[in-house]
Amino acid sequence: MLKTLFKRKPSSETISLEAQNIPRHVAIIMDGNGRWAKQRGLPRFMGHRAGADVLKQIVLGADEIGIKALTVYGFSTENWKRPEQEVSLLMELIKEYLQKNISHMHEHNVRIRFIGYIQGLSQELQDIIADAESLTKNNTGLTLQLAINYGGRDEIVRTMRIMAQSVVDGTLTIDDITEDYVTSHLFTKEFGDVDLLIRPSRDYRISNFLLWQLAYAEFWFTDLHWPDFTKETLLEAVAAYQHRERRFGGLQEE
Ligand code: IPE
Ligand code: IPE
Ligand code: MG
Repeated sequence: MLKTLFKRKPSSETISLEAQNIPRHVAIIMDGNGRWAKQRGLPRFMGHRAGADVLKQIVLGADEIGIKALTVYGFSTENWKRPEQEVSLLMELIKEYLQKNISHMHEHNVRIRFIGYIQGLSQELQDIIADAESLTKNNTGLTLQLAINYGGRDEIVRTMRIMAQSVVDGTLTIDDITEDYVTSHLFTKEFGDVDLLIRPSRDYRISNFLLWQLAYAEFWFTDLHWPDFTKETLLEAVAAYQHRERRFGGLQEE
């Protein structure tokens, strides 16, 4: 069944999506805020602010088309290497974003979760995060997973340490450690594998995002910088996904 969900502007061409083949779990590396600002002769911070504004629209768009989980990369474990002033502005922006948008997301039945080493953030931010999670925890629409202080390697190491401790404590045997077990003990435990990864801004790398969960994801890139990303861009990415043939190491279906 083809369902027309969007009219592409300015022509009347439409993007048709197959309702039964919507990716369940989509991940986005929200990159290019700095380059967007530079192009306009603005300070980098303005790019981050514009990027945060875009996220709201994309969350609602993803929910509309039936994506179940959207995991977005907001701050990596490596982003601490940036100048202190940029780091503190980014932290302030995350706080502001939540304070400004949480009730709107809640009204739209969006559930918010955070992934990453949250204990490494300021107590104030941790409290805001806990409030956002608790307010939206019973919502049944899209789950937005915000990756803050997230690193794929860090996630794997933390999970390995917890598993090793359980083995030492005698509550886990080595044979219990399977791929499914690991998947269900990562920060992303509820949604597991990513179906579609989107990276804007002309960089073609993972940058330590969701290393385990991307094993069989489809990748889609766009030259747009994140602040120029629109709902239409998301639909284009999903439409491209629907033309991919996912074989998972097997053979093409007859
Ligand atoms: C992405 O934009 C936001 C974060 C990494 C926090 P950048 O700040 O990386 O923007 P570019 O890559 O310099 O353009
Ligand atoms: C990845 O972008 C992290 C986020 C978007 C939060 P970076 O800008 O940090 O990635 P690199 O440094 O270009 O790989
Ligand atoms: Mg970048």
